[in-house]
Amino acid sequence: MEILAEEIINPAFIRVNYSLRGWLFRRAIEIRQELARGEAKPFSEVLEHIGNPQGMGQPPITFFRQVLGLLLCPDFLDDPSFPQDAKNRAKQILNGIPGHTISSYTAAEGINVVRQDIAHFISQRDGYPAASDNIVVTSGGAEGIEVMMGIVQTGTNEGRGRAGVMLPVPGYSLYQARLLQHNSYQIHYRLDEESDWSLNVTELKRALEEARSYCVPRGLVLINPGNPTGWFSSVGLYHPLNGAECACQSTAHFCQRMPSNSLPPLSFLSKENSFLKEHAKRIFSVSQF
Ligand SMILES: Cc1ncc(COP(=O)(O)O)c(C=O)c1O
Repeated sequence: MEILAEEIINPAFIRVNYSLRGWLFRRAIEIRQELARGEAKPFSEVLEHIGNPQGMGQPPITFFRQVLGLLLCPDFLDDPSFPQDAKNRAKQILNGIPGHTISSYTAAEGINVVRQDIAHFISQRDGYPAASDNIVVTSGGAEGIEVMMGIVQTGTNEGRGRAGVMLPVPGYSLYQARLLQHNSYQIHYRLDEESDWSLNVTELKRALEEARSYCVPRGLVLINPGNPTGWFSSVGLYHPLNGAECACQSTAHFCQRMPSNSLPPLSFLSKENSFLKEHAKRIFSVSQF
């Protein structure tokens, strides 16, 4: 008997299409199998680039691997082949966990010492205080986005009362997929191709105003660096939103993807930033480090 028969699956989930693993990716796998079976092709290898740098041959960051190795197997803390900085970091983390082992349950928000480190890192990077109590560690960006997309819902998933979230076009299909699961309204705003696919505040306002008749706008997805466009704002995405007139101020939440190497991205979190002063309590940022 088929347990997960189509008629018992939530229809909202059936509509979801995560294009990153869509037909192109499946075809790449097929071609790889064809090559393995010895079929003749004008090439000998298939490279599938799905945002997986190490899958494409980029070496991993050694320090992270060493710290993880030490956390999993603290016996190596005495091993001279591990460098001292990795040992120090692993000891600091283990000392902050009940039972000094990562096998134990941790706080649901993430390991406290790690949250403190993240808060410290953000304060240093941005020159603006960050509190570890406000940091929640998730396993990957997708999980954080899923949580946020759930939080911004209005309580109804039909008609004009449902939540709307602004999504960049072109964008990353994960956001759309999560909204489809909730049957939320997608408010598409176009990125400006003429200026390297940058964010255009006039376009944001247009999209927001049009959407008000169809939903309750609740969120704005800002992606920096842009995926798939690669556009990058070194001053951060809130910068163009600074200043009173932005209609998006009435939306409640923000999601953002910000790699750690995009220094100094959050300088816009300055005290002079009137937008942030007014809305800081309503801004959530999903950051990938
Ligand atoms: C814009 C954007 N959002 C979310 C994600 C998902 O992040 P993760 O793979 O950490 O779950 C990605 C991954 O590449 C992404 O590019």
